[in-house]
Amino acid sequence: MSSPKPVRRPLVAGNWKMNLDHVAAIRLVQDLALRLRSLEHDALDVAVFPPFTDLRSVEGILGADQLPVLLGAQHCSAFDEGAYTGEISLSMLVRLSVTMVLVGHSERRQLFTMTDEQVAATARAVLARELTPVICVGETGPERDEGSTEARLESQVLAALEGVAPGREAGIVIAYEPIWAIGTGVAATPDDAQVACEQIRSLVIAQRGEIGREMRILYGGSAKPENAAELVSLPDVDGLLVGGASLDAEAFAAIVAATAGCYGRAAGKS
Ligand code: PGA
Repeated sequence: MSSPKPVRRPLVAGNWKMNLDHVAAIRLVQDLALRLRSLEHDALDVAVFPPFTDLRSVEGILGADQLPVLLGAQHCSAFDEGAYTGEISLSMLVRLSVTMVLVGHSERRQLFTMTDEQVAATARAVLARELTPVICVGETGPERDEGSTEARLESQVLAALEGVAPGREAGIVIAYEPIWAIGTGVAATPDDAQVACEQIRSLVIAQRGEIGREMRILYGGSAKPENAAELVSLPDVDGLLVGGASLDAEAFAAIVAATAGCYGRAAGKS
């Protein structure tokens, strides 16, 4: 805990998970657009990650109104095309103006058995298309209780880096999401979030050198308007990955506002 906030561009990302059909998605993005218009948020990236079936509709609204909101997907195939029933390729996502992809969200890992190797392969494929992988890592409750958070993060981060060619580290985002905090209403304490995010950055720096200082690290897990400012003020937290609160335009806009306010102050200090 030391240096002032460096120049990493903050990111507030909304992961809608399997919520909102395309009609509800249109409503939410329109509401969000109105709220974001009155906010100064030029200094940060705002992104939404709707379900696949919403992407075309959301792309249409973002494009028509030229809204400064990035479009993300919640998952993608590591394969280019072919006989992979039920999968979605990066080419399909690129055609829909998607620029970011969540890779290895804990729900993909836990419920759909996504392995560290698949996470690395997917990150590699996303980077090959010049998109930004948002690679999720985090420990379970029992792992935290038995004191193995550090070991868990180390193994997940090192495995994910296998998919990141040297020199490309600044183009990835890592989201630290303690699984016990996801959807529970109980976020990590600022101290715990900072320790974990600092550990992640130190690991990347140890493996790949100073370029690790340019990589963005998000915190995720019960982020909400009430705790956003405190979390994004932490030295190694460069933004938030928001689940539940991103389904509510008012709450998500408040999180964006809190982040913009924090970075405005940080910029004023330097
Ligand atoms: P939550 O979800 O904000 O609802 O805890 C975060 C996530 O899973 O990305």
